[in-house]
Amino acid sequence: MASSSCRCHNLPEEHLLTCRRLNTKMTLSHAAKEMGKWCDGITGVEGSSGYLALIIVTAVGWLWINDSLPFQANGASTQIEEEEEEEVPDPPRNFTITQLRHFDGTVDQRTDEKKPVYLSVNGTVFDVSNGRDFYGPGGPYEVFAGRECGAALATMSFDEKLLDDVSACENLGVGDRNELQNWMEKFEHYRCYPIKGKLVPDDKLPSPDRIITMEELGKYDGNVQEVPEEFVGYGAAPIYVGAGNKVFDVSFGGVPMYGRMGHTKSLQVKTSRAHWH
Ligand code: HEM
Repeated sequence: MASSSCRCHNLPEEHLLTCRRLNTKMTLSHAAKEMGKWCDGITGVEGSSGYLALIIVTAVGWLWINDSLPFQANGASTQIEEEEEEEVPDPPRNFTITQLRHFDGTVDQRTDEKKPVYLSVNGTVFDVSNGRDFYGPGGPYEVFAGRECGAALATMSFDEKLLDDVSACENLGVGDRNELQNWMEKFEHYRCYPIKGKLVPDDKLPSPDRIITMEELGKYDGNVQEVPEEFVGYGAAPIYVGAGNKVFDVSFGGVPMYGRMGHTKSLQVKTSRAHWH
């Protein structure tokens, strides 16, 4: 039932507020009193402490929403820090021709996500995902995705015979060699495609039947920074890890895990030592 004046102040209609809860008209001071009661009810504290408690709760809530509390370890600020950390590029790795073929920008059947697009120019592997429109599926230069294409680019040819042939770059004439250099500069300095590592052609890979001595095994423990002379053309020094009676070179994809800063570094060299000669 609406009344035309406040229950506690006899004031004219224009000075009154409508109180929806009580369905009545009231003055500001009456509204404040009602508000106070409401605060007391919510906070369980009587008198002005109720207001104070409500203000504190509101302030903490606001800070929480804005991730400004010092103890908020899992908030958005931590997420930003993580994202910043993620931006640190992976150290360079080695690629076999087969590994490089994987990075062709098509959809990965296992994850349903688009793979990045890599290509190699004279053995240097670039991440050209920013140029997906050129190299991705359906793009005008998709034939180069996941391939070594230095000789093809230098001679402006789409001939597939020139693909995956790093040695073809060594046999180019002077003019084509300049072209190759121009492409390298364009990719590295103009397009700024990130360099992922080096392509090691199959004929430069060590034989899988090679016997590795304990001494040699110990040499490639992931602490070597410079690529040793005998591994010319590699993007990263070999890192050997044993499993069963086999020795794997995990510098072909596992540098972030097994390299100097890697979290599985402790596995290098140490596993199953007894199986090697
Ligand atoms: C009629 C002949 C061609 C025309 C008109 C043409 C035109 C173009 C244009 C306009 C671009 C974009 C340039 C830019 O934004 O930097 C481009 C990029 C490119 N072209 Fe061609 N092109 C031709 C032939 C070729 C051939 C024969 C090759 C190699 C076999 C080639 C390889 C490339 C590559 C790799 C890119 C992408 C470069 C990048 O990643 O930024 N093009 N082309």
